[in-house]
Amino acid sequence: MRLKAVNPKDLSLETLRLFTGRTPLLTAGDRTACNTMTIGWGGLGELWQKPVCTVYVRQSRYTFQFMESHDYFTVSVLPESHRDVLLLCGTKSGRDTDKISSCGLTVCYGAGNAPFFDEAELVLVCRKLYTQDMNQDCVIDHGAAAPFYKEGDWHRMYIGEIVEAYHA
Ligand SMILES: Cc1cc2nc3c(=O)[nH]c(=O)nc-3n(C[C@H](O)[C@H](O)[C@H](O)COP(=O)(O)O)c2cc1C
Repeated sequence: MRLKAVNPKDLSLETLRLFTGRTPLLTAGDRTACNTMTIGWGGLGELWQKPVCTVYVRQSRYTFQFMESHDYFTVSVLPESHRDVLLLCGTKSGRDTDKISSCGLTVCYGAGNAPFFDEAELVLVCRKLYTQDMNQDCVIDHGAAAPFYKEGDWHRMYIGEIVEAYHA
């Protein structure tokens, strides 16, 4: 593997900034089967005295099934040069295409056999701590939310403890 392991607590602010303003790949599954998709929304922070990463997944995504059936997920931030990969993984479903093979991504495995990609600049391996469905009754700013839920399909939020981190 090209990537180097770092203690998640030692990640610099600069490294963590890679996550914001970029569209990483969210991957879940194991050595037998997995799926990946591009995500635009997410966050980094702290919960229950643990470093955490939050992601939002619509239930219609094929990736959702893997997020539900596995205890770990990974977030791989690819270099800007991989825009074509992010476009494909954000527009095609793993139900119809083996996106990982089509994109020529190299799969590595972290804690819990969670798959991630060696081509990444930064990888966070996360263990699920908390999950909750977003729903209309909890929305405060309906103007902000409405454009994203014209057809329902509300996101499920996953907060994962960052148990491993890797960077190039
Ligand atoms: C830039 C971008 C950001 C996206 N962000 C999210 C996201 O945060 N959550 C989500 O559920 N879908 C998001 N999507 C949509 C999924 O990536 C897309 O529907 C994908 O094809 C799902 O693949 P799957 O069915 O194999 O899981 C995003 C797509 C793009 C292009």
